[in-house]
Amino acid sequence: MKVLITGVAGFIGARLATLLPETHDIVGIDNLNDYYDVTLKQERLRLLGKKIKFVQMDLCEKQTLEELFKQESFDIVINLAAQAGVRYSIENPDAYIQSNVVGFLNILEACRKYPVKHLLFASSSSVYGGNKKIPFSTEDNVDHPVSLYAATKKSNELMAHAYANLYQIPVTGLRFFTVYGPMGRPDMAYYGFTDKIVRGEAIQVFNHGKMMRDFTYIDDICDGIIRLLNHIPKGQIDYQVSDSWAPYKIYNIGNNNPVQLGKFIEIIEKHLGIEAKKEYLPMQDGDVVQTFADISDLSKETGYQPTTDLDEGIKKFVEWYKAYYAIGENIGKK
Ligand SMILES: NC(=O)c1ccc[n+]([C@@H]2O[C@H](COP(=O)([O-])OP(=O)(O)OC[C@H]3O[C@@H](n4cnc5c(N)ncnc54)[C@H](O)[C@@H]3O)[C@@H](O)[C@H]2O)c1
Repeated sequence: MKVLITGVAGFIGARLATLLPETHDIVGIDNLNDYYDVTLKQERLRLLGKKIKFVQMDLCEKQTLEELFKQESFDIVINLAAQAGVRYSIENPDAYIQSNVVGFLNILEACRKYPVKHLLFASSSSVYGGNKKIPFSTEDNVDHPVSLYAATKKSNELMAHAYANLYQIPVTGLRFFTVYGPMGRPDMAYYGFTDKIVRGEAIQVFNHGKMMRDFTYIDDICDGIIRLLNHIPKGQIDYQVSDSWAPYKIYNIGNNNPVQLGKFIEIIEKHLGIEAKKEYLPMQDGDVVQTFADISDLSKETGYQPTTDLDEGIKKFVEWYKAYYAIGENIGKK
């Protein structure tokens, strides 16, 4: 199996490449942009070593991308490259249209010209926007995004459906729910909290810590993706919202066990051995109050069941964080 992972220097891409069996021949691309610390992206690539063939490339370089597809004849394409982050999309809308919309169009076009067995792409739990009904099901309406980031992810789902219909490209969309773990994303709340707690600075807790998130450990997310690689959508006569007459299907990959932000912070404090100074603030624009994944489709069809609970997952993150930043064992001990 020849597999392309885009965004391979990213948090999920690098871990997925690590966990994919050696029988896969992996090509990875990434533009190594400086949205967050580039040395962390380089470190992920260094650890992957020769397991992948790495090509530094931007999804927006259409011609170069198509040349790569022509040369490599991919069986499976996993599109994880994107401008991530909800809050950054308020200040930098253009970056989202470029990487997430133009970049994804280039991936679809490349798959049309050089057909693949299966295209999988990252969507996001953020497409559920302000939905009130929980848990969030892939059968629910997702027409009310509350950030441009979410709108680009919903656009990806629509674009993918059109290409599945027009060109019979088998395509699976993956709505990930707040992914965390070692080598994670420094722009995400749990990472930023840890940075600040270690430095003795106050953390900003939005919505007074009452937000609920379906935090999902990185290896559970990767397990869900790997289970779907050869689970190729075929198109259904009796289709519903999450599938279609075309070879198209959307899944949630989450933990199915939402936790309050305040509880999450308590677990970080426990594993760091430091109590955080907290500044409680109201909700921020673009944020949603809660996320909660209904994973029944994925479980029924692939046997997916998340196995890492929050305590164990945060412990692993904190251990990695201390080792990576060479923080002594005495931190937090009086
Ligand atoms: N981490 C989460 O909690 C989460 C939740 C929902 C969805 N997602 C989605 O999953 C995917 C992976 O997320 P992640 O957490 O690993 O993010 P990440 O930012 O760590 O990884 C994305 C990688 O893509 C690269 N990239 C961005 N734009 C590019 C472009 N135009 N061309 C080539 N490379 C480009 C970046 O350099 C980065 O290394 C993204 O699509 C993200 O939107 C993530």
